[in-house]
Formats: sequence, structure tokens, C-alpha cells
Amino acid sequence: MSRLLDYIQEHQIQKIAILCDERVWQHYPDYFQLLNGVAEVHYISLEAIEANKDIKSIVFGWNFLLEQKFDRNSLLIGWGGGTICDLGGMLAATFKRGIRLVNVPTTLLAMIDAAHGGKNGIDLQHQKNVIGTFYLPEKVIIDTNFLKTLPKKELLNGFAELIKYALIGNITLWEEMQKLIQINHKTIKNEWIDEAIQFKMKLIEKDFYDNGVRQILNFGHTVGHAIERLFAEKKRPVSHGYAVAMGICYETYLSYKQEYITLDEVEEILRFILRFYKPLSLTNSDITYLAHYCFDDKKNKNGRLNFVSLEKIGKTTFV
Ligand SMILES: NC(=O)c1ccc[n+]([C@@H]2O[C@H](COP(=O)([O-])OP(=O)(O)OC[C@H]3O[C@@H](n4cnc5c(N)ncnc54)[C@H](O)[C@@H]3O)[C@@H](O)[C@H]2O)c1
Repeated sequence: MSRLLDYIQEHQIQKIAILCDERVWQHYPDYFQLLNGVAEVHYISLEAIEANKDIKSIVFGWNFLLEQKFDRNSLLIGWGGGTICDLGGMLAATFKRGIRLVNVPTTLLAMIDAAHGGKNGIDLQHQKNVIGTFYLPEKVIIDTNFLKTLPKKELLNGFAELIKYALIGNITLWEEMQKLIQINHKTIKNEWIDEAIQFKMKLIEKDFYDNGVRQILNFGHTVGHAIERLFAEKKRPVSHGYAVAMGICYETYLSYKQEYITLDEVEEILRFILRFYKPLSLTNSDITYLAHYCFDDKKNKNGRLNFVSLEKIGKTTFV
């Protein structure tokens, strides 16, 4: 919090809007108390559900900021998980062509992923993140104490991304994670979170607009998104993290079929993932749909399927 106060004083910020997840605000009502008296503070609270990641929330935010006379030196704080970070980023990027943005992520997924890198977005016609901008927050404040109240299901969502980071770029992290027996806020180490963030930030420095090397962050997501879509259409939705965990299993196997990773490594990865996530049960017709949906992936070019393949644990290649 002292870093946030320094930042506010350094930039002489007078107005702050905290776009917050209403559940997080209920859990931590006094979290931003220190800001009172330092600046004029307003709260815009929302239920963090995918249905709220739409233009209506953005229009509500634009009207609010306009009525409260926010200017380009005013600050928007996105305080919540990825849903809030995506909305807050878009609101800050578009109001008066850009006001100051700070993210304070409260889910594991947002701490290691959604709060960083400047991608924001809303959904349109049930398609995820099709409208959005690239707009970096000036600061991301990580406070892992928020994980104490995060439900286990949400912790597992973020953990799938941590597994991904280890597999695509950090064999030491992978080896350390092997010792995990159970997942809770105490067993997820702060160093792991820091390493995942540093890895993502290095890729962003090289490829901010996601045209090249940043795309390795999509490992597990080509099949993962297809799984999410398939089960949403069957009206038995699965969580994003679960779909990514299963996507990692399938894309690991595809990497083996492309003669990159060894069968021993495939077994090691699947054994670890299935320690925490239930295996997916698919019919033959499901598999046909999944293959079909993979062709709608944003990484594809000219109708050819592109996916990130594991060369070995800790190293990827594009296929
Ligand atoms: N922009 C990016 O780079 C990026 C990357 C990954 C995901 N995303 C987006 O992130 C969204 C998913 O975000 P998410 O997984 O963080 O979930 P979320 O923000 O939807 O939150 C999940 C649930 O956890 C609750 N919650 C949040 N913090 C809590 C806390 N500390 N204690 C108790 N409950 C808490 C929320 O109220 C909600 O019920 C998706 O819309 C996805 O598209 C964006």
C-alpha cells in the first residue's frame, strides 16, 4: 500500500476510481482506507461474472467518470480477478483516450497473468475478448494475502497457468512444483508467482502486440479454448483453468506425436496434472467437434492450424 501512496503523491493524483469485484470489497472493506484524505476516492463495484464483461459495464463506467469530472491525471484502480482487470483496462484505455491505470489483482490467475501485459477486453455475441485494446497498467500491486479467501476452484484455475509457465519456460519451477501434494494458499509459493510474472513480462517486452514470441503463452489454450466452447455448448460449462489443464495434456501429447517431447516426459506431465484435475471424458463426436473448433483459434493463419508445441519440459516451439 505504501507503494501505491508514493505513486499517488508523486503524480499528484487527485481523483481515484476503484473498479472492484463486489465480493472482494465485501471481504476487504477497509483495504483502501489509507487513500481517504490523500485523494477523492470513488468505488464502482460489479459482480465478477463473464456476463458483465460487456459494453454495458463500460458505458456505465464512462458515464460515472464523466459525471465525476475525471481527467487524464485521474487514476483507475482495477481491484479483483481477471474479469475486473479486463474491464478496468478497457475503461482506463478508452476514457479521454487514456487515464492512469493500476491493477491490484486478487485471484491467482490475475496475479500471474491477467493483471499484466496490457491486454484488456470485453465479449461480444458470446465470443470472448473480441473487443479490446493493448494498454499497460502503470503499476501492478501483488498482495498474496488475497488468496486466503479465494475458493479452491479459483485457485486451481490460476494453478493451470502456473503449470503452463513452468512447462514453457522454467524447468526448475516445474521440478519444485512436483513436490506439491495439495493446493491451497499456503502451498503456492510467492517466488513461483514472481517467476511467472517475470517470464510473462520478458515476453511482453519482446512482443507487446502478440504477433510472435508472446504467443507461446497460449500453450494449452488452443485445445483448452475448444474444450471450454464444447462444454459451454453442451450446457455443462467447465472452468477456464480446468480446460487449460486438459488442453495442456492434449497439446503435450500432440508435441509427442510431432516427435518433440519424449513419452517419459508426457507421462510425467500427465501424472502431475491428473493429481489435481479430473480426467476429461470425451465421446468420438466430442473429439470431432474439438478438432473443428481448434481451427477457429486466433493463432491460425490462412486456414492452417498453428499450435505451440513442447520441445522438452521448459522449452517450446511453434508447429
Ligand atoms: N487480459 C489478460 O491477459 C487475461 C489473461 C487471462 C484471463 N483473462 C480473463 O480473466 C477472466 C477470468 O479471471 P479470473 O479467473 O481471475 O476470475 P474472476 O475475476 O472472474 O473471479 C473469479 C471468482 O473469484 C472471486 N474472487 C476474486 N478474488 C477473490 C478473493 N480474493 N477472495 C474471494 N473471492 C474472490 C470473484 O468474485 C469470482 O467469483 C476471464 O474473463 C478471462 O478472459 C484475461
